Amino acid sequence: MKAQINTEKLPCHIGIIMDGNGRWAKEHGKPRIFGHRNGVTAVRETTEAAAELGVEYLTLYAFSTENWNRPKLEVGALMRLLVETLAKEVNTLHKNNIRLKAIGDLSKLPDSTRKALLEGIEHTKANTRMTLVLALNYSGKWDLAQAAQRLGQQVKDGQINPEDISQEAVANALSTSGMPDPELLIRTSGEARISNFLLWQIAYTELYFTPVFWPDFRKDDLYTAILDYQNRERRFGKISEQVIS
Ligand code: FPP
Repeated sequence: MKAQINTEKLPCHIGIIMDGNGRWAKEHGKPRIFGHRNGVTAVRETTEAAAELGVEYLTLYAFSTENWNRPKLEVGALMRLLVETLAKEVNTLHKNNIRLKAIGDLSKLPDSTRKALLEGIEHTKANTRMTLVLALNYSGKWDLAQAAQRLGQQVKDGQINPEDISQEAVANALSTSGMPDPELLIRTSGEARISNFLLWQIAYTELYFTPVFWPDFRKDDLYTAILDYQNRERRFGKISEQVIS
């Protein structure tokens, strides 16, 4: 399947809403955290496959601002799993020249999670092959609100005028500043929602939904999604004849 992918037309940035860990665990008669633990295997496989292909940015929705409403036990277990996974995987990321980045309100994360994350980011900051972005305590509405606050402050400080707030200025105030918008957004587990993930950034993103539960997601599933994307015609508001090259 990998051989069918046109590496000249790869999505430069892929976003993934990793969903279905809980249902996967239920199917196996296990507690929800068992699903999250197995989700780490899918994270590893997907990161490896994306880097091997030459994808430049991979953004994973690991914890939304709404996820705090889950049972305390599950939230705590997820935060510990992150620390554990970072401890195990940061060296592998580094060896593979992958840079780690995070988007979201990290100030609300438990100290141990934030510390592990910031250390991983620092350790890998000079890497150039691919950027793995973890969206943690992230939501699209939070991102837009913090961008508005940032721009508002700049107006208040006299650095810019309100009319300077262009689309480019908003994009630069978002937590994804400097990153290209995702060309492909994948959501697993059969749900067809955006769930407050990247909102501004997905204006022209191709959406791909698969019934596969996240813990079962493997390299071939990523290849399938990319092939589907490559068979679509991206028109950006133009007509077909204008975009066929
Ligand atoms: C969604 O499944 C999954 C999450 C909210 C957490 C994702 C976390 C991981 C895959 C583990 C660690 C990640 C990294 C980056 C190290 P769900 O619980 O909503 O499943 P359900 O919809 O079936 O209940």
